[in-house]
Amino acid sequence: MEVDVSKIEPGQLLRVEWRGKPVWIVRRNQATLDDLAKHDNKLRDPDSAEPQQPEYAQNAYRSIKPELFVAVGLCTHLGCSPTYLPDSFGEQVQGITSGFFCPCHGSKFDMAGRVFQGVPAPLNLVIPPYYYVNDTSILVGADKEGA
Ligand code: FES
Repeated sequence: MEVDVSKIEPGQLLRVEWRGKPVWIVRRNQATLDDLAKHDNKLRDPDSAEPQQPEYAQNAYRSIKPELFVAVGLCTHLGCSPTYLPDSFGEQVQGITSGFFCPCHGSKFDMAGRVFQGVPAPLNLVIPPYYYVNDTSILVGADKEGA
């Protein structure tokens, strides 16, 4: 499924559907990207060692381009869809402005979909296969042919 990502504003989340699952596409600003490096000690799998993402997203941002975050929007506990908190995540994890909070049983994920310690969700959010068709569009659901 091809998605035009050019109109997603910094901080905005676009929700699309892929194989019946919600997929989030979030444009992260520089402050959000900088924050990702500051709380590794609070995460269960900060380096994405578990195979919850394609190889090209096994990096500090869990994405192909740092600014654009693509993830399956389902909690890895029992599959609720977490809520995006762009400004008020600090109420969940002190000192962190934005993240995802699952209201079902209180799991918390950072802006790279990495799960915090001490919550029921065992794993980071799933990153689906995707690739850039061009500068303004991505294709969700497949790896680039020949890549
Ligand atoms: S389904 Fe998200 S915390 Fe249980």
